[in-house]
Amino acid sequence: MKTKGIILAGGAGTRLDPLTRIACKQLLPIYDKPMIYYPLATLMLGGIREVLIISTPKDLPMFEALLGNGKNLGIRLEYRVQPEPKGIAQAFLVGESFVGNDGATLILGDNLFYGKLDFFRSALAQESGACVFGYHVRDPERFGVVEFDAQHRVLSIEEKPTQPKSSYAVPGLYVYDNTVVDRVKAQQPSERGELEITDLNNSYLKDGQLQVRLLGRGIAWLDTGTPASMLEAGNYIATVERQQSLKIACLEEVAFNRGFIDESQLEAAIAGHRNPDYRDYLQTVLNEKRHGRV
Ligand code: DAU
Repeated sequence: MKTKGIILAGGAGTRLDPLTRIACKQLLPIYDKPMIYYPLATLMLGGIREVLIISTPKDLPMFEALLGNGKNLGIRLEYRVQPEPKGIAQAFLVGESFVGNDGATLILGDNLFYGKLDFFRSALAQESGACVFGYHVRDPERFGVVEFDAQHRVLSIEEKPTQPKSSYAVPGLYVYDNTVVDRVKAQQPSERGELEITDLNNSYLKDGQLQVRLLGRGIAWLDTGTPASMLEAGNYIATVERQQSLKIACLEEVAFNRGFIDESQLEAAIAGHRNPDYRDYLQTVLNEKRHGRV
């Protein structure tokens, strides 16, 4: 079982300028929470309690101000700077000492997942190798794309191909064993000067060590790459939250339900919250647990 996670939350943010002039994309709101809450909740729901957040020198202090050391959530949060955006796989060089001799999950700070996360939990239980996912999309050319043979075996993953060989994109959630750091060290930067995540995945594939699990219709993988897709993601979260009167990616609730914090810690979190609606929500979570309601 892998217990460490990395959230990569840097990058240049050019596509969202001027929104990203002051704070980076992953700090911007998706409905009622900063974007990074969603990938952090995904890791926590997988059972991950040690998380490294990587961002730019300018933005990292803001993440630290937002989330602190994680103690209030019963997790451990560390922070490290990526001096320049030199590729997604570089996260494992920046995070080498954090990863140590363990494997780690990498999630991109702008990737939102919603639905039953069993696919992620079973990937975390995988003993060795790597596991990535395939998600059917309308516009695969914007992503890493899986190529299959006639028997549905994976032949390759191509980064933003002009002629995609399937409609299955690889979302920004990657589970790796403890060979990951050495593999990235052996990588060469691509033509655009980046350590490509797709090259890392192909290194596992070449060794017969890559699992690609296809995600079905029950999972939402939401894009936040443009102002329009951010708005759509926010509307999606708002629609589901308001219909159910349950929150998505409420970190204190996730921590409590997973047993990372106990009742008294949740009470302390409630007392410390400045937003009365959020406080009421957490109070309901606590009351329902106390009264044995599911
Ligand atoms: O979202 C899934 C896709 O993410 C995958 O299908 C692709 O294979 C993968 O390359 C990536 O594509 P993007 O076009 O989204 O990559 P982008 O360069 O925009 O980086 C994704 C996020 O990671 C973005 O929020 C910025 C952050 N980032 C990126 C790089 C290259 C960093 O923090 N540091 C970096 O060096």
